[in-house]
Amino acid sequence: MERKSTVDLSWDEFDELRDPRPTESDFDRVVEAAISRRGFLGGVLAFGSGAMTFGAGALTSASPARAQSAAFPFKPIGIATDFDIHVPEGYQWKPLVKWGQALWSDADGAWSPETGVPVAMSDRVFGENTDGMDLFVVDGREVIAVNSEYANPELNLPAASGGMARSAGEVTLLKNLQGVTVMEIADSGNGYQVVLDSPFNRRITHETPMSVDGPAAGSALLRTLADPAGMSPVGTMNNCGAGRTLWGTYLTCEENFNGYFGTTDTSEAGRQRSEAEKRYGIGGEGRYAYERFDSRYDLSKEPNEPNRHGWVTEIDPADASSTPVKHTALGRFKHENAEMVQAADGRIVVYMGDDERGEFIYKYVSNASWTEGQPTGGLLSDGTLYVASFNDDQTGEWLALTPETTGMTMDEILVFARMAGSKVGATTMDRPEWISCHPARAEAYCSLTNNARRGLKPNAGGDAMPVGGPNPREANEYGQIVRWRPGNGDHGAIDFTWDLYVMAGNPAVHDDAYAGSPNVNAGNMFNSPDGMAFDSSGMLWIQTDGDDSNEDDFAGMGNNQMLIGNPDTGDIARFLTAPKGAEVTGLCWSADRRVAFVGIQHPGGSWPDGVGKPRSSVIAVWRQDGAIVG
Ligand code: FEO
Ligand code: CA
Ligand code: CA
Repeated sequence: MERKSTVDLSWDEFDELRDPRPTESDFDRVVEAAISRRGFLGGVLAFGSGAMTFGAGALTSASPARAQSAAFPFKPIGIATDFDIHVPEGYQWKPLVKWGQALWSDADGAWSPETGVPVAMSDRVFGENTDGMDLFVVDGREVIAVNSEYANPELNLPAASGGMARSAGEVTLLKNLQGVTVMEIADSGNGYQVVLDSPFNRRITHETPMSVDGPAAGSALLRTLADPAGMSPVGTMNNCGAGRTLWGTYLTCEENFNGYFGTTDTSEAGRQRSEAEKRYGIGGEGRYAYERFDSRYDLSKEPNEPNRHGWVTEIDPADASSTPVKHTALGRFKHENAEMVQAADGRIVVYMGDDERGEFIYKYVSNASWTEGQPTGGLLSDGTLYVASFNDDQTGEWLALTPETTGMTMDEILVFARMAGSKVGATTMDRPEWISCHPARAEAYCSLTNNARRGLKPNAGGDAMPVGGPNPREANEYGQIVRWRPGNGDHGAIDFTWDLYVMAGNPAVHDDAYAGSPNVNAGNMFNSPDGMAFDSSGMLWIQTDGDDSNEDDFAGMGNNQMLIGNPDTGDIARFLTAPKGAEVTGLCWSADRRVAFVGIQHPGGSWPDGVGKPRSSVIAVWRQDGAIVG
């Protein structure tokens, strides 16, 4: 019965169920944080352009700064509460690919509106619950790599299953609908479509052979019965955000991997959990019962299997026979996305968020520098992992995770990066989601989606989550976007300054900090920023994954949405609304940038077919006049 109940939980709720966190007992600390919050918001926190000062007086919905802006080349749209997509006047959309759609002609017709996809064809079709993606041009052809974050048991299994796998076949079905789809797409005059049977088409799932590199490759922590050398992990799972390397490969990021493992040993000893398992939310019963039918997911048989997941994994979209590589140098945690840029001296820099309440923001810096055309070996396996420390005075530092700073061995630092971050005193954040860097200047933006426990409970490692700095609101249900500028305009710098680009809120309901920053108004409000990407003109596209009830604190926000923010003025305008139930996640562009591809995950109703099961899909959005959209 408890098993069934977990099916409907959010990952936040699942983590809380597995690891109930005590409420903060240090009353003085909470009060002190609340006082410093008032002082902080009263004076120094800048928003939007950086020129506006976010004083207490600016926190009312009557502020002139809340006026709607006409700063974008489209007419912003209103909210929606229906089961459809809406885009501005002059734009159109249509599905590019839907969950269950064939990638090869042998799977043509596999989809059924009533029953979904049969297990035999489940790795021959586009996966479910689309997420991060990117597009690559290979020999003049357009190849898109798309994550499928999870498979919904209630949509894929018969009702009698209760939403839990009951056989090895059902486990296989769910596993195959996750992972990554690589496929060729082409516009033959009637809009973009999947190229059936293209040699680029590929599914990468829980069962795909992988390799591993970096300091933790071969570590005892990565060894299993099936892989005694710790060098041949199998599969990728819960692929959330994404990234692209400067050399044209795809980075898929493994997020909520913890929920796929459980133990069949229900004895007292079998239920004991290590500190690391507690920190990563591993133990007890798995979320989908995989451990009952596949011993790889059974902690009593393969206790190190979870250590082979939670990595950034590199895929070559140009070669369907290539072996994906898990990069341990980038650390193991609930990876959202991986944003790669270069330091002034040519070293490779990767920014990454760990999406759990009170977890950290990381930065990897390679030891070697690189210029186009040079070999890329070692760039993601030989370097230093840092974690962010934000100071209340809008400065910050990157803290190196080394044996000297943490007292841990190098493989422990990487496999248990969260614990290393705690050792050096990293700042506990409001669920770091996507990070995106401005294309023309050294500036990084990170969505901090929400954190209902801010100021109330510690994170899973017991680190306090005080109110203040870039996480300025207790019980933060709306989220904010923090941005930082590295010292000397160099992404390789150790120091940075920061501000908040936007603090989401509801100025129609609140007149305090929960109204949001001055660049939020009744016409553009939203909650829970998540996906983000800059376009080539330097506009920041913001996607949401929040409460779409349109009630109470969320009244007037409607369905999840995609907005465009101007980083120079702070202006934000609504561009797209999703079907009710869906989040908007994943964004990339056609090679000529005349078409934007947008991911619609877990829609409600029967979107987009109007009949049968709702189908997560990637849609194409374009301007009717053929102009560039990003
Ligand atoms: Fe998969 Fe944090 O979103
Ligand atoms: Ca996300
Ligand atoms: Ca999210």
